Amino acid sequence: MMVRADHLMRPTIVVLCSGQGTNLQAILRAIQTKRLRARVACVISDRADAYALARARQAKVPAHHIDPARFPDRASYERALIALCEQETVRLVCLAGFMRVLSPVFVTHFRNRILNIHPALLPAFPGAHAVRDALRWGVKVTGVTVHFVDEHVDHGPIVLQEAVPIRPGETESQLLTRIHQREHRLYPEAIRWVLAGHTKIVGRSVKKVS
Ligand code: GRF
Repeated sequence: MMVRADHLMRPTIVVLCSGQGTNLQAILRAIQTKRLRARVACVISDRADAYALARARQAKVPAHHIDPARFPDRASYERALIALCEQETVRLVCLAGFMRVLSPVFVTHFRNRILNIHPALLPAFPGAHAVRDALRWGVKVTGVTVHFVDEHVDHGPIVLQEAVPIRPGETESQLLTRIHQREHRLYPEAIRWVLAGHTKIVGRSVKKVS
């Protein structure tokens, strides 16, 4: 009974995914191993075939496929997402490979309560092909960024960043693997900071507060 009560008192997050869900898995593992005090209320995907949904079900987390094609426009789709997220009191919405751009409808509703993880050192290489773009540009260092989501793509205030030096001759898939490893550590850590109230947004900056 005590265990159940503690479970329900943890800050609640919702995770939005479109694909593999390795970051979702990292979040679930961090919770399981008590590195992150949180509870995933549900996982939502815009794609029926997202492996993230299977990962959620395996962890006994409610998993929903909400198909954008069933809605007349982006605003009504996002209102459906909001309704699902708001079935419980949600502290944070975590985007983990969610491949849709969220409009002001969603962003305004969850103002300063949406996090995203991006596989580059923003503001360098925003967009869907950040790892490939960094390699093609010939940069020597790329990395990982966790940021709050605002109305613009890959743009909001940055919570945590970590650099990943590119090795000579490294392929896209090798670099992606190393970036993913970094993501899986950084995202749960950033979520922990934000949920613990250790961050304050001041303009574009996320300040550490104790
Ligand atoms: C990650 O590389 C993340 O940075 C980007 O999408 C990818 C999602 O991977 N936004 P996964 O679905 O968590 O495995």
